[in-house]
Parts: sequence; C-alpha cells; structure tokens
Amino acid sequence: MFGVKFRRLGAILLALIIISGCSSDEGQSVEPSLLLGFSQVGSESAWRIGNTRDIEEEAEEHSISLMLENANQSQDNQIAAIRRFIAYRVDVIAFSPIVEDGWDNVLMEAKEAGIPVILVDRDIHTEKEGLTTCLIGADFYNEGVMAAEYLIRKADSLGLEHVNIVEITGTENSTPMRQRQAGFADTLADDERMCILESIDGDFLKSRGAECMRYLLDEYGDDIDVIYSHNDEMTLGALPEIESAGFAPGRDIIIISIDGGQEAIDVLKEGRINCVVECTPHLGNELMETAIRLKNGMEVEEVIHPVEQVFSDEMDVSSIGPRGY
Ligand code: AHR
Repeated sequence: MFGVKFRRLGAILLALIIISGCSSDEGQSVEPSLLLGFSQVGSESAWRIGNTRDIEEEAEEHSISLMLENANQSQDNQIAAIRRFIAYRVDVIAFSPIVEDGWDNVLMEAKEAGIPVILVDRDIHTEKEGLTTCLIGADFYNEGVMAAEYLIRKADSLGLEHVNIVEITGTENSTPMRQRQAGFADTLADDERMCILESIDGDFLKSRGAECMRYLLDEYGDDIDVIYSHNDEMTLGALPEIESAGFAPGRDIIIISIDGGQEAIDVLKEGRINCVVECTPHLGNELMETAIRLKNGMEVEEVIHPVEQVFSDEMDVSSIGPRGY
C-alpha cells in the first residue's frame, strides 16, 4: 500500500529498537520505544472509530506507549490535549486536525519544546514554516476526482443529457470537505451536462445527513438526479429520507459516497448506493514507523498517501471482501 523503501527502513529500525529494548531474560516484555501523544477528532463515524482502533493496535504492535485523547469534535479540546502532551514531554505529538485554521500558537509551543508533530488524516493551513514534520493521510482531492469520474461514466452509460447534483459536504473548513468538493467540481467543470444545485454542510454526521436530505428533498424534490455525499455516515442518514419521500436510491437517484465502511458496502451490494470511493482508516502503521524515525532523528517523507480504490455498480460487488470498519 505504501512505499516499499519506507516499509523496509521502518522494519529494520523497528527490529533494532526491539532488540535494544529487550531484556536478556526470556519472556520479559519489551520496553516501550517511545511515548506518542495522539489527539483524535472524535467518534463521528465508523471510519473514525476504525482509525482509532487501528492506531491503538499499531501502537501496541510497535511497542509504542500511546497517550490517546478523544477531542469529541472540539478544536479547543484538541488544543488542550496538545498542551498536555507538551507538559508530559512526550517524544512525538500526532493529531488529526478537525479544521485547517487556528493551530499556529499551540504548534509554536510544541516547536519551542522541541517535540516533532505529525499530522494524521487531515492537513492544517498556516503561513509559518516548520510547525509540523509530515502528513499521513488520504489524497482527498483525488477521492473527489474519482467520484466525479464515476459519475461521468454513469451518465454516459445511461445516456443522460442533464444531471442535477446535490452535495452533502463534511465539516466546514476541514481538509476532506474542501478537497473532496474541489476535486469533484474541477473534474465536472468541463462537462456541460453537470449542474451542482446546492452544497450543504452535513458535518460528517449521520443525523445531519438525514436533516440535509430532508431539506434537499423539500427544496428540489424529483429534480435531484445525483447525491454526492462526503462520507458514508451522512449517506446512511440520507437513505431512509429518500425512501420515505418515495424514491428508490440507487435507481431513481444516483448515490455516491466516500469511505467504504462495511455498512455502506452492504448497502452498495443491495443496490441502494451506486458508488463508494474508498478512504482507508488504516494509517496506524505509517504513523508508528514515522514516529520511530523522528525519535531517532531520521528524515521522514513530507506527505504519505495510501492507495485507494473505487467500489461501484460497474464491478462484481459480491467480490468485495470484509472491510473491517
Ligand atoms: O477525515 C476523514 C473523514 O472523517 C472520513 O471520511 C469521515 O468519515 C470522517 O469523519
């Protein structure tokens, strides 16, 4: 999935650390190689819960001691967690920023304390240099591109001459929201059939997905040809609303989602979603290997994107295996 060179170096380094951390007494447990503070956004989706679990499992696998804090969807909580990590003098700080702006002060404090910071999943916006070391996360722009490319192929195959789209976006000013929107819109820009009627903020939440869908159905009714939803949770919230309004999702309305969690894939197999662009939550291995490299004063790659795929009604969906999140 990730760069082979990166994996091999990480494995060698890990082996050295495990060897140096082991006692000569057989069966004695391995000393934690480093202390990592990680501030998670919250528990808003199956993706997020899977991501937290993956990070916990990989920390254990790498004998890394993990201070995990759940910010419950609050930037203030994330800033407070990062300050606690600094006070504890952790070796490395990692966090998934809920939004892109507003991190300069706390990251300056981490820099002054000499603690390297890794961005996981989402990016930040800053004018300052050197506040973070690297970003490990999906190429959200490309996810938007893949969603749009699917739609163009679908419109071609159905012979559609005009396509009305409504978009339910993720958290305002978050990286996945901005980039999934941009990748999708840029790819459709030259296709004159495509018309985005409205984009509405669903905050990556199932309850908001349902609310947004009720509003969109009231506003546009059967003019809606396509729903582009920035995550599975919002899609799963929207589906019952579409059905209550008398439409068959996947047939009367084309449904495009992002994440690829088990529940969405099951619904794709039922034909009630047409396309799910994968966003993998499995970032833990890269995070641990990067943290080890930083602790040991080694160079790290600036941006690490996992490879992702598209699941859709263009393929034999029965071949999609268990997703694990
Ligand atoms: O940042 C990744 C996004 O955040 C996932 O698509 C979504 O499900 C989560 O809440």
